[in-house]
Amino acid sequence: MVKTAVMVSGGGTNLQAIIDAHIFGEIKNCELTAVISSNPTAYALSRAEYAGIPAYVVDAGRHPNGASFSEAIHKKLSELGIELVVLAGFMHILGPPLVRAYRNKIINIHPSLIPAFCGAGYYGLRVHEEALKFGARVSGATAHFVTNEVDEGPIILQKAVDILPDDTPFTLQRRIMEQAEWRILPEAVSLYCEGRLEIDGKIVRIKGARSDVERGRSDSEPQ
Ligand code: GRF
Repeated sequence: MVKTAVMVSGGGTNLQAIIDAHIFGEIKNCELTAVISSNPTAYALSRAEYAGIPAYVVDAGRHPNGASFSEAIHKKLSELGIELVVLAGFMHILGPPLVRAYRNKIINIHPSLIPAFCGAGYYGLRVHEEALKFGARVSGATAHFVTNEVDEGPIILQKAVDILPDDTPFTLQRRIMEQAEWRILPEAVSLYCEGRLEIDGKIVRIKGARSDVERGRSDSEPQ
């Protein structure tokens, strides 16, 4: 079992998707060892408690800078023997020493189809505002490994979501969470824990998957 920590900052709907998929046996070979929140009042902490997962707070507000915050997280991950870190609505950038120590062992979910609408400053509603302003017809979500370049790490899974004519940043955010984030993040975690991800530079190969349909990523059956 891969000892996994889920890092959160807010409501924790992505955490809930992971918890639910784990309960339903859709995430294989994974132990949900810890939930770590950067925010002491995050609702995600209650979700962890209901699910019986040990929850910890590393309060970003109590650290003078990002380096000291990141170091505190690093210490907690080491103490717990964590092997996989999942950033699920985690609103901070981890420092280079931590990212180096957990190379190809940190998975993030980003609410757009990388390389569109991503990079420094693209988080929360801003991502969706920019997609709408640009007039894009589709957006979506990307599960990827974390490197020191924001949103540039190897892509594990992506799922596209239509943008509708009367979308607001809020309606688009919600549809992307429901149709993409909550599906591909648990799937990416399972693929990692099953040892099915092979990383070759920027390219991630999924062992044993011949097509999207076979991986359960397609909404339609093959004709
Ligand atoms: C979503 O916008 C997601 O893309 C971003 O955080 C928001 C959801 O947070 N990463 P949460 O999982 O409900 O805490």
